[in-house]
Amino acid sequence: MKPMLRPILIHPNPKLKKVCEPVLEIDDALIELSDDMLETMYHAPGIGLAAPQIGVLNRIIVMDCEKDEADNRKPIVMINPEIVFSSDEESTYEEGCLSIPEQFAEIKRPTSVQVRWVDTNGTEQEQEFHGLWSTCVQHEIDHLDGKLFIDYLSTIKRQLITRKMQKFKREMAREEK
Ligand code: NI
Repeated sequence: MKPMLRPILIHPNPKLKKVCEPVLEIDDALIELSDDMLETMYHAPGIGLAAPQIGVLNRIIVMDCEKDEADNRKPIVMINPEIVFSSDEESTYEEGCLSIPEQFAEIKRPTSVQVRWVDTNGTEQEQEFHGLWSTCVQHEIDHLDGKLFIDYLSTIKRQLITRKMQKFKREMAREEK
């Protein structure tokens, strides 16, 4: 089946604040969902997407931090990902999120993380991530626990961004009429 673009939920949305359920079975529907998530992420364009961002409250994320090269794609689908080790060293990256369009902030996170997950073949994988991949995988796993990058900011900054998003959503709703 051809992958489909799925609408991306925009903050604030209660589905983006939920702790997602583990995936218990890898079936055709899950493979289709992960293909749709990759298609939606590449189309946005973005470097990562978590299932709750398209309203599916299961522990699935997709990523590709080599986004600049259309012919050099490195898609990763992670089912039930877990961080098993985080470095003490921290790095700061300017983060954004497809659910919080056009808003960016510098966020400090561990420089590298070791992640364990199940791939779409049902095989357990474990890998260390550095640099942008490390930031991205931490950001996406946060989504599975209902956490957004703006939750690392001060209350004032978070409220400011949330108000901008509420305005953005009102404008979008008006345009759709
Ligand atoms: Ni995000």
